[in-house]
Amino acid sequence: MDVKQLRQQTPGCEHRTHLNNAGAALMSTTTLEVMRAQLRLEAEIGGYEAEAAVFDRIEGTRRSLAQLVGGDQDEIALFDNSTHAWNAAFYSLPLRRGDRVLTGVNEYGSSALAYWQVSRRTGAELVVVPNDSTGQVDVAVLADLVDERTKLIGLTWIPTSGGLVNPAGEVGKIARAHDVLYLLDATQAVGQLPTNVGELGCDLLTGTGRKFLRGPRGTGFLWAGERAIERLDPHVVEIAAATWDGATGFGWHRGAQRFETWENSYVNVLGLGSAVDQALAIGLSAIAERAISLGRRLREGLDQIPGVTTHDLGADRCAIVTAALTGRDASEVKDQLTARGINVSTTVPEHNQFDTEVRGVHPLVRFSPHYYNTDDEISRTVDIVAAIAAASPRNDGS
Ligand SMILES: Cc1ncc(COP(=O)(O)O)c(C=O)c1O
Repeated sequence: MDVKQLRQQTPGCEHRTHLNNAGAALMSTTTLEVMRAQLRLEAEIGGYEAEAAVFDRIEGTRRSLAQLVGGDQDEIALFDNSTHAWNAAFYSLPLRRGDRVLTGVNEYGSSALAYWQVSRRTGAELVVVPNDSTGQVDVAVLADLVDERTKLIGLTWIPTSGGLVNPAGEVGKIARAHDVLYLLDATQAVGQLPTNVGELGCDLLTGTGRKFLRGPRGTGFLWAGERAIERLDPHVVEIAAATWDGATGFGWHRGAQRFETWENSYVNVLGLGSAVDQALAIGLSAIAERAISLGRRLREGLDQIPGVTTHDLGADRCAIVTAALTGRDASEVKDQLTARGINVSTTVPEHNQFDTEVRGVHPLVRFSPHYYNTDDEISRTVDIVAAIAAASPRNDGS
């Protein structure tokens, strides 16, 4: 990987140390230009006409996403974020009283809310599978819990709240063995880890464009395999999803398109396609290796600093690093880093209630490097955190 060249093609690298790739990564100039050109075309010839002019490239985004996850083009539905993609899958699952949904402690906040809502509506039961001693979902407990009542395993591969990589493929084996649908939230994983739906054993996978994929904000996608297409009843129907047969009713469109809505930002869709193509060209294994090793270096560096503790769970960890500074608010530390040109974010206790109830560590400062970050940036960040940790806390009376 030519990091120098990749940084030159990333305008944001000139101004900041961007360690908020789990929030939204920096777009490349190529993606920026693709989007600018389409926006200009829309202004010059009309929105529908501009769409028609690039129809094949729009389909190309679907092809690229299919390649990214190891699926077929027909199995990809485009969305404006990952939450809507996930909702399209989850709310389409027929559930009733007595059914069970199994999930993990590190499930994403919006998904947990959706489980609760549907549980209230239908009487289906939500079961939260505990973590094992390493902090990842306990696969043995999960295997014991799956029975004829289980209609869905919903799991987050990499949570928003730390460096954990859940054993998504192991969970897939359990889902397959019991013929249970498996919905995998891969929002923080796509663009960071090699992703193959066959190896993962999932039926549904959701992703977002703006995070490790480096696509524009306002993009997301759902991959839905054959079993899911057969078993789900899409929760809404509209003209992009189905054909109205007049007095006789309607028929669903083929494949995952039945989950889509008609209107879309094709500027964003083309931007997403460009970002995915770039990730594929660099190679997901190379991306993962570099991003994770930068994360590891950062975690090790932070762990050396007196008064700083990292809190990443699991046997297998990714590029996301979370840390607390004794006596310091996470948001205050974030602000201090921002003032020194380092972008980070913080975790939110209310968005991670299952985890908060177990560990009570949030809010934490969340650092998330990507492959275009450098060793120097990591070292400088560690030095600045050390300086913040060493300075007297403002409110402790010292
Ligand atoms: C693990 C996880 N799942 C889902 C989401 C939601 O993604 P989006 O904001 O694209 O809807 C996020 C966003 O941070 C996330 O981290």
